[in-house]
Amino acid sequence: MTLPALQTITQEVHSCTLCDLHHSRVKAVPGEGPADAKIVLVGEGPGFHEDRQGRPFVGPSGQFLDELLAMAGLRRADVFITNVVKCRPPQNRDPLPVEVKTCTSTYLFPQIEAIDPRIIVTLGRYSMALFLPGEKISRIHGQPRNVNGRLLVPMMHPAAALHQPQNRPLIEADFRRLPEILAQAEREAASAEPRDDEPPMEQLSLF
Ligand code: URA
Repeated sequence: MTLPALQTITQEVHSCTLCDLHHSRVKAVPGEGPADAKIVLVGEGPGFHEDRQGRPFVGPSGQFLDELLAMAGLRRADVFITNVVKCRPPQNRDPLPVEVKTCTSTYLFPQIEAIDPRIIVTLGRYSMALFLPGEKISRIHGQPRNVNGRLLVPMMHPAAALHQPQNRPLIEADFRRLPEILAQAEREAASAEPRDDEPPMEQLSLF
């Protein structure tokens, strides 16, 4: 039996040696959540705690992320959580362009294809820049955009709100709007699908 695509990606991440980050990692962090999640959250990269446990957002910013999800009426088990890079950069340095390119083309983008979510929530600048290069998070946070047929919602990184308390009300307000954004995305997807009483296009072209 062949494994479903998402499981195969998870296994490959665990044994990945494609970039130098594998030398210093304790555990790779593929991401976790339902294979059919409607929302995928993309952080920057594993930190100290994530590297130890092999799970995303389990340190202080993860605790805050759980609170933010609760404000949106969501539980962690409802969403798929992953990162731009799957291994912790040493001393939490910024990931290098080559690390970002290798990891996203091999793992993140295929994960998104496999899950096919309605919404991608980017957490922080690095994640946003993958989908909306040149934008400023301070200007567009919380505003949904259509990107390649999916709704993208750029959010501030939870750690930014923990380190700069003045950001907290902003990120909380953005998360509280997620249910409304998801409902809108569902309505748009439903109106784009052909109705049962409508003949498919091939049939129409016969008349
Ligand atoms: N910060 C991130 O961007 N990702 C994690 O998984 C944890 C902290």
